[in-house]
Amino acid sequence: MAIEIDDLNRRYGIAGQAVFNEPVSGFAVLEVTHAHAQATIALQGAQVMTWAPTSERPVIWLSRAAKLAGGKSIRGGVPVCWPWFGPHPSQPNFPTHGFARTVAWDVVAVGGTAEATEVRFRLLPSPTTRAQWPHATEVELFIRVGRTLDMELTTRNKEPAPVTISEALHTYFEVSDIGNVAVHGVDGLTYIDKVDHGTRKQQAGAVTIGGEVDRVYLRSTADCAIEDTGWRRRIRIAKSGSRSTVVWNPWIDKAAKMGDLGDDGYRHMLCVESANAVDDAVEIAAGGEHTLRVRYSVERLD
Ligand code: BG6
Repeated sequence: MAIEIDDLNRRYGIAGQAVFNEPVSGFAVLEVTHAHAQATIALQGAQVMTWAPTSERPVIWLSRAAKLAGGKSIRGGVPVCWPWFGPHPSQPNFPTHGFARTVAWDVVAVGGTAEATEVRFRLLPSPTTRAQWPHATEVELFIRVGRTLDMELTTRNKEPAPVTISEALHTYFEVSDIGNVAVHGVDGLTYIDKVDHGTRKQQAGAVTIGGEVDRVYLRSTADCAIEDTGWRRRIRIAKSGSRSTVVWNPWIDKAAKMGDLGDDGYRHMLCVESANAVDDAVEIAAGGEHTLRVRYSVERLD
């Protein structure tokens, strides 16, 4: 593996700004150190693991108990759920949230400007992925690490027939304490309440968390924001090409069963996922493409 890291650095590394490393043997990450932000990105899943704008507390949460190992999903960061979100519609033994988060992606390009470090990853079909997804689709993730964190997940359908995907950028945001936060941007929307047998309900006002929450908000196209009174900050989640928002916190019992969320991890994270799920799955025409875009930024609360 050491040779591969050397090779990655030779081909794509930018000294002092974008350096490939191996925190655990066989597990490659790109460490970004830019004047405006720091980030780490795993090649497995093209998964952003951390992002902190300069002089700001971390915005993306990574569990202290996260396991970095080939083929295992990383608890925290920005897992890419693709080409399906949640359980597979007909194959219960296929992995939850698809396979994209547990396979290695290819680095296509790394670039740096005064504003940001930019990285492009690609996932092409392989014998492993074809066994679960027999479609000729290519997927790219573009990541821009700067004062904002921008991501674009593009799916290209190379088939002569339409293909339907569901997907999410399953982002774990770091919060001062779960009791201090409210999620804005979904007022009035219908949601599927996964902790109440999938019952459809209507949101009234902002979302606050005082127990397990697992909801898919439908037709959710507006920006969302996490207001955190403890750290006097608002995390803004601007998006396009996404018609669902998933809000998830496992709370105490589920977190204890998961084993990689850390002792009090559930108090310091909140997932607000920009998605296309359930009713909002996306049909991509033959030869067409679809892009889901997000921009995360931090604002001070007055
Ligand atoms: C959320 C789902 O998006 O992800 C939850 O709505 C799920 O139902 C959670 O528990 C975590 O999933 P995983 O596969 O990373 O444990």
